[in-house]
Amino acid sequence: MYLKTILLSLLLAFGSGVKAQVKPIVIATDQTSLVLTVDGNGRLHQTYLGRKLLNEAEYTALPQGPEAYLTHGMEDYYEPALHVNHADGNPSTLLTYTGHTAKALQQGVSETVVTLADPVYKTEVRLHYVAYAKENVYKLWTEITNGETKPVEIEKYASAMLHFNNAEYYLTQFNGDWANEANLSEQRLSYGKKVLDTKLGTRANMFVSPFFQLALDAPAQEEAGTVLTGTLGWTGNFRFTFEEDHTGRLRLIAGINPYASQYTLKKGETFRTPEFIFTLSYGGKGQASRNLHDWARTHSLKAGNGSRMTLLNNWEATYFGFDEEKLIGLIGEAKELGVDMFLLDDGWFGTKYPRNSDRQGLGDWTEIKDKLPNGIGRLTEEAKKQGVKFGLWIEPEMVNPKSELYEKHKDWIITLPGRREYHYRNQLVLDLANPKVQDYVFSVVDGLMTKYPDIAFFKWDCNSPITNIYSNYEGKEHQSHLYVDYVRGLYNVLDRIKAKYPDLPMMLCSGGGGRSDFEALKYFTEFWPSDNTDPIERLFIQWGFSQVFPVKAQCAHVTTWNRAASIKFRINVAMMGKFGFDIKLADMQKNEQDFCKKSISDYNRLKSTILDGDRYGLVSPYSGQHTATMYADKTKNRAVLFTFDIYPRNGEYRSNVTLRGLDAGRRYVVKEVNRMGNDDRQVGTYSGDYLMNIGLPVFTGAKMNSRVFEITAE
Ligand code: GLA
Repeated sequence: MYLKTILLSLLLAFGSGVKAQVKPIVIATDQTSLVLTVDGNGRLHQTYLGRKLLNEAEYTALPQGPEAYLTHGMEDYYEPALHVNHADGNPSTLLTYTGHTAKALQQGVSETVVTLADPVYKTEVRLHYVAYAKENVYKLWTEITNGETKPVEIEKYASAMLHFNNAEYYLTQFNGDWANEANLSEQRLSYGKKVLDTKLGTRANMFVSPFFQLALDAPAQEEAGTVLTGTLGWTGNFRFTFEEDHTGRLRLIAGINPYASQYTLKKGETFRTPEFIFTLSYGGKGQASRNLHDWARTHSLKAGNGSRMTLLNNWEATYFGFDEEKLIGLIGEAKELGVDMFLLDDGWFGTKYPRNSDRQGLGDWTEIKDKLPNGIGRLTEEAKKQGVKFGLWIEPEMVNPKSELYEKHKDWIITLPGRREYHYRNQLVLDLANPKVQDYVFSVVDGLMTKYPDIAFFKWDCNSPITNIYSNYEGKEHQSHLYVDYVRGLYNVLDRIKAKYPDLPMMLCSGGGGRSDFEALKYFTEFWPSDNTDPIERLFIQWGFSQVFPVKAQCAHVTTWNRAASIKFRINVAMMGKFGFDIKLADMQKNEQDFCKKSISDYNRLKSTILDGDRYGLVSPYSGQHTATMYADKTKNRAVLFTFDIYPRNGEYRSNVTLRGLDAGRRYVVKEVNRMGNDDRQVGTYSGDYLMNIGLPVFTGAKMNSRVFEITAE
């Protein structure tokens, strides 16, 4: 029946030549509609993207809008979404509508697929649109099929293209460097192009994160205004292009960075692009972030609805300088602290070239005899005895030139023939385009899990970008496939791990936050946002990543960075995410040790609200010397408020902080908790209405001061 309707539409569209015979294709969430229409020539247009109209019939009255997925070589003069070089050398593609399907994937999730084809060349393009009704999130990707008898080359192959027609556009980007990730800056766009991209390959987002906020008509505000927050699920080179044309329209093109990545499609072959995920919020950046957090926990993040383990990591406590005895001591400290897991970091492996520094050993995944005479087994046994889980650091995609792996398998390594190797952090990247290398990387995890089934967690690191870009595997013809095939190879390995060890939690790390995207987070339960654990820096870094990722996925550890900040301040910053420690308990004063333990138990009480509740950024650290973040659970029964005074000015005026996410009609008991050396303090009982309109005087004039408030409905 459905097929018949489509066929009929097609006949009408092409048979009569009458404009708009195919009814508008409306792809809706509970709040937003994306409307596509087909013109009399069969070309597909994006007619609308915005707040859902009450009356669907009115979409037919809308002006047509620009072509939805613009191609190179035809009538358009700006950046295209697609550029195909056909087998005969013709570089142009014309796409016309051939049909569409729409179906429910599950309750509240629908998928629409629009098929377009070139009437002259046998190139077919399928635009996929998955709409998540309640979360108000869309996921878009594209499939490109070569129907010609000979290979074609795709030069540009966007996941998605969207068009806007607003008075003004404001783009917020998130850029930085190692230990300085995800800094926000906003700029007004004007005629021309703004590009956010990377060509770092593996550690793809060391300089710029794969997400952005696009505010329409006016600059983005926290809880007001129309903002599109978008991100690409791709653990490699990405590119977002924002181009405003001479008429003031803006186009957004999101996808793999086509830089040095022309891809040849054999006869019949289909290229599937990564997913571009976005939400369109009418309640500012804050609502956009909550939409994405809800979507991630429910539909995307690995174990999104599951629990997370608190931990003690040894990296900053010992660096490479540990042995069995020290680690056993730390496992005891993990137990004493009351965390769920002990995580052994870098420096435990390498036989011929023991990994006692970052200069050697990477690639040789057997224990260093001197340090661990009884192997990992002795450590998992000790952890078991102490009642804590055991986690292990690996960096299986990489190799130090000083390693047995390098000596044996030079052909597995990405290096340029005839040139001196360039080493980033003294290491090189393995060629994951090669299936043999994929097998090897899988075997690192599988081998460890087989030998030590009590390993309960991996921290998977990736400290180098792709350098010396040349693959022995791709051969002369397909060097430009490497950036794409690398990521596909990585997913192949991760798929195998997920299939064999479905419940194994893993942390994604890349010299801090150099890798963080929603495709990787289908395999990883969490990521390490930054090696910078100075709590003041972390206030900014966590604020940045929280614009997109739920805090459940953001590891936050207490360390000794910035000793001028109290242990309480450092702990309170870390409690706002997936809480852990990377510190030696034995080096602390007794009162500090006690406070660490108390904080774990406070966190265990509050964590369901923090990790699964709605996050409200009440006062941004970017706005001055104070910041406040609140988490409210979905039932509005419980909330937690974290407040921080950074470097307040003497005699400054401090206004109240108004809360959000409560029920105006209910009354709440507010307690200050997690106080060092003191019991909880009753602040008072207030209506939700009062707290959300009048607020509380939570900030102080003290420097580097933090407070935690527990808010419970009566
Ligand atoms: C990276 C990570 C750190 C640590 C070191 C170990 O820098 O981000 O957390 O694991 O590697 O070498």
